[in-house]
Amino acid sequence: MQKITIAIDGFSSTGKSTVAKQLAKSLGYVYVDSGAMYRAVTLFAMQNGFIETGCFDKDGLISQLDHIKISFKFNKDLGFAEVYLNEKNVEKDIRSLEVSNFVSPVATISEVREQLVKQQQNFGKDKGVVMDGRDIGTVVFPDAELKLFMTASAEKRAKRRYDELIERGDDVSYDDVLKNVQTRDHIDSTREDSPLTMAEDAIKVDNSSMNLKEQFEFVLKLSEDKI
Ligand code: C5P
Repeated sequence: MQKITIAIDGFSSTGKSTVAKQLAKSLGYVYVDSGAMYRAVTLFAMQNGFIETGCFDKDGLISQLDHIKISFKFNKDLGFAEVYLNEKNVEKDIRSLEVSNFVSPVATISEVREQLVKQQQNFGKDKGVVMDGRDIGTVVFPDAELKLFMTASAEKRAKRRYDELIERGDDVSYDDVLKNVQTRDHIDSTREDSPLTMAEDAIKVDNSSMNLKEQFEFVLKLSEDKI
């Protein structure tokens, strides 16, 4: 059976990664969370003093890009690949609200994007990949056989992200999470380099009123039609 490339883009917390993981598992494809890569670069910047309250040393971060090694290792118990920054598992650290608050400014830097896009294209060079992000169908894999663009209301998305953070024990407020989702949407869709936009040939999936099962069945059918 021929393998295809599936690109899933959309606003923050639209459930892209949930559906991407389900699809990859069901099709026997590799799943790549491109947002985790931007988050890992952001964590590196925070850990190395390039981001401090009120100050972001972009040039300092750019000068260190060659020292940032991002990799994914499959965790059998979890059923998906976790992200490693310079050989350290940072899967949990990169999901904090603090990283979320800085990641969109980091993702506006063209040098960062160039480096990560190259690595993402390499992950998908043999097809059989499901990748989610903001520019996958427009920049990373413009020739992907299936492109999905996920949307849902900001309130619904913030509630999902808030529940996730509370479940893992983070002390956050719903209002702060909503503000973060709205700010990231704005920065991601108005930046100069690779703004978040729906590819012309993408299929829009509004999951505001779909449950996980319905959403999965819908996108699985779309995928099977392309294979
Ligand atoms: O997908 P996730 O919400 O984890 O992504 C975190 C951030 O990384 C996004 O808000 C966006 O700023 C950036 N990003 C990006 N391009 C991608 C994936 C993520 O700019 N392909």
